[in-house]
Amino acid sequence: MKKIDVGIVGYGVVGNGVAKVLEEKKDLLYKKSGVEINLKKVFTRNWNKKFPYPLPEEKKAQSLDELLNDDDIAIIVELTGGVDFPYQLMKSAIERGKHIVTANKALLAEKGKEIFSIAEDKGIRIGYEAAVAGGIPIIRALREGLVANKILKIYGILNGTTNYILTNMYKKGKDFKTALKEAQELGYAEADPTLDINGTDAAHKIAILASLSYGGFLDFSQIYIEGIESIHPLDIELGKELGYVLKLLAIAKGHNGEVEVRVHPTFLPEDNPLSKVDGVFNAVMVEGDNVGESMFYGEGAGSLPTASAVVSDIVDISKSIAEGVGREIEITSMNWEHKDLSLTRVSDFYTRYYLRFTVPDVTGILAKVAAVFAKFNISIAAVIQKEKVVSMYREKNSEKIIPLVILTHTASENNIQQAIKEIENQEITVEKTVIIRVEDEE
Ligand code: HSE
Repeated sequence: MKKIDVGIVGYGVVGNGVAKVLEEKKDLLYKKSGVEINLKKVFTRNWNKKFPYPLPEEKKAQSLDELLNDDDIAIIVELTGGVDFPYQLMKSAIERGKHIVTANKALLAEKGKEIFSIAEDKGIRIGYEAAVAGGIPIIRALREGLVANKILKIYGILNGTTNYILTNMYKKGKDFKTALKEAQELGYAEADPTLDINGTDAAHKIAILASLSYGGFLDFSQIYIEGIESIHPLDIELGKELGYVLKLLAIAKGHNGEVEVRVHPTFLPEDNPLSKVDGVFNAVMVEGDNVGESMFYGEGAGSLPTASAVVSDIVDISKSIAEGVGREIEITSMNWEHKDLSLTRVSDFYTRYYLRFTVPDVTGILAKVAAVFAKFNISIAAVIQKEKVVSMYREKNSEKIIPLVILTHTASENNIQQAIKEIENQEITVEKTVIIRVEDEE
């Protein structure tokens, strides 16, 4: 029987979950994998706290070197968060020939190219199942189950905090601030939820899925990211009238040798299965050329769902160490094309749009807007104009100010931006136009 020693760095919510699963499921893991996985040491900066899964003294390391210099430890599980510290930690672990398991999406999305290159040179494996959508085994599905497919599109709800907030806004008519406060009170949102609500967390995850699906690394700073901070309940209501549900969607599509990657609030038809994904749940839809559409649904965060993914990587790597085979293929799995991916420019996005203009209720306004749309070759699919002044609309120069919503057929981002600029320059509108992209087949 082969025994594999494991060390964990970082003992927070996920670290406690991983230790619990490794200890309590030791026999089950052995029966399923044929390998004895031994949690040898855990390092955290401060052991003077109360932990949900307390450890015996002999497993508590007082320094990182206790793990890094222990030749028996074959796998380092990095669960610290941030980018710089874990990057240095991974480099040190790789230099000492230790395999890595991580849940760190920020690090992989922003420094994946460097870290995988160092790891490949040394024949080291990096497991990152827990970095995307917590407990949903989407990395393994793309790497193994769907390997026979060219991935045409992958899109999903990859952030539970924002999905909780948007669900609350949609179902209970709450405004953004109230819904965020509630999420924080219930422990669903971090004390500092900035990276969740501004879309960065979802972007980290889709960057990883895009790399794995299209076989190369991409420049994270070039990804189009828009968060949910400015979403107004009025747009959720008007979208509902048009048959749409608002979700923070992360999208990656491959076309013409490029990959289009974007994260933004998106209207989805209410009969799209992703529209039914509520609360803190995550879901990923993958479209492959052979399989068609496949949807993966589950808990995207939390101690035990994330631990489930971390432990799957520990078992996977332990098995390949024990068997001594299969590493070559696994190592190169994220950048299997060995190239950098070219990202589609924002101006070249093609999609449908929901546009809310704020206009005075006077003769000829709709005709003026329609004329600009015609000039930029934008086809209108639906229009909603509200006669009643909604409370947020003020009387201006004794004119009634109203929302005018236009849903377009597929148009280019470039044309949409030019049309809006012209409409605003002509002073047809009195406030900034609200733009929400729509994912809906035509
Ligand atoms: N904060 C994330 C979320 C989970 O709300 O989904 C960790 O990526």
